[in-house]
Amino acid sequence: FFAAIPPAPADGILKLSVLSKADANPSKVDLGVGAYRTDDGQPWVLPVVQEAERRLASEPSANHEYLAVGGLPALTSGAQKLIFGADSPALAEGRVYTIQTISGTGANMVGAVFLKQFKPQRDAAIYISRPTWGNHRSLFQTAGHEVREYRYCNYESLDLDIDGMLADLRAAPPSQVVVLHACAHNPTGIDPTEAQWEAIADVMAERGHLPFFDCAYQGFATGDVDRDAFAIRLFAARGFELLVAESFAKNMGLYGERTGCLHVVVANAEQLPAVSSQLNRVSRATISTASAYGAKIAGTVLQDPALYREWLDNMQTMSARIKAMRAALRSRLEALHTPGDWSHVTSQIGMFSFTGLSTTQVAALRDQYHLYMTDDGRISVAGLNSHNVDYVARAIDAVVRA
Ligand code: LMR
Repeated sequence: FFAAIPPAPADGILKLSVLSKADANPSKVDLGVGAYRTDDGQPWVLPVVQEAERRLASEPSANHEYLAVGGLPALTSGAQKLIFGADSPALAEGRVYTIQTISGTGANMVGAVFLKQFKPQRDAAIYISRPTWGNHRSLFQTAGHEVREYRYCNYESLDLDIDGMLADLRAAPPSQVVVLHACAHNPTGIDPTEAQWEAIADVMAERGHLPFFDCAYQGFATGDVDRDAFAIRLFAARGFELLVAESFAKNMGLYGERTGCLHVVVANAEQLPAVSSQLNRVSRATISTASAYGAKIAGTVLQDPALYREWLDNMQTMSARIKAMRAALRSRLEALHTPGDWSHVTSQIGMFSFTGLSTTQVAALRDQYHLYMTDDGRISVAGLNSHNVDYVARAIDAVVRA
């Protein structure tokens, strides 16, 4: 029965965690998976999350019952406001349905399964950026979609290839599904400017494409959750129907709790009962109900004004440390006169920097310097700290000169 099954390729991101864990060398630096680390290289439980956990633990009625199929209302209603803004017309008009999911990946998957059945054109493909998060292609293909790419990164200048992107979106058949990173593009750290988002929206409207935003880093791009939601709010204000996959893995540090939501904006509130019932059906068929613990934490933080403000501060702490590490790495590479232009390390935003290092250089860094990054040259800047940044710069300098 199973004899003809070929082995699946290893996941390009998760394999690094395994390799790095198995490496006992004291110089080891793990810049692989996008997970925040403190300046001592440790995971960080946000203080606001600790406070929410204390409150939850002291609730006399605490239990482990199932959540409802749509999820925890404290989470879903808070998540809607976070994404669309408390004054969002789409929310006021009752045109948004939010379902709790297994973090951002689950949100993408619920959207993918839903779209397989109900996408605008039966033969519409899913368009992903080149490059994109390593799991997007596999995820949409697993849901049965054809996946195509649009140009995104100019690999020479390590900047946005806006002309290539617009040309590809224009050349695509009408009414395709286009996956867009809401902010802090993974893996490049390159985001469109506000004017470029307008131009993208123009082409998307002209061609009747359906935007599917993936929003895993709200708060990490500019440090301001509202500014980081600019693109989503722009498309919503321009009257697009759209989907948003939202993750609380990074911005609340709830990685393993798998806390997220899928939002669907419809054109007319009358469509919402049918759409929401179909999304609930997909959820019931795939995960039944979502995970409760992370949802209770995030719901507590989102609903309590004081905790919400503290959360914004905690996010500032993370994004400021990442920014400081970008500056530190760039200044060290420049001080070493490492061949090349390293300005992209500070102009790129979010958790990642797309270094431009080749696969051979990445392999050399791994094999000779115990430095782990994805094969495409992406580093998780959150893995840098004041103790390892010199070593990382010297290692990069050495392989670039080799
Ligand atoms: C990453 O890109 O490193 C993160 O989104 C973690 C993951 O699940 O791949």
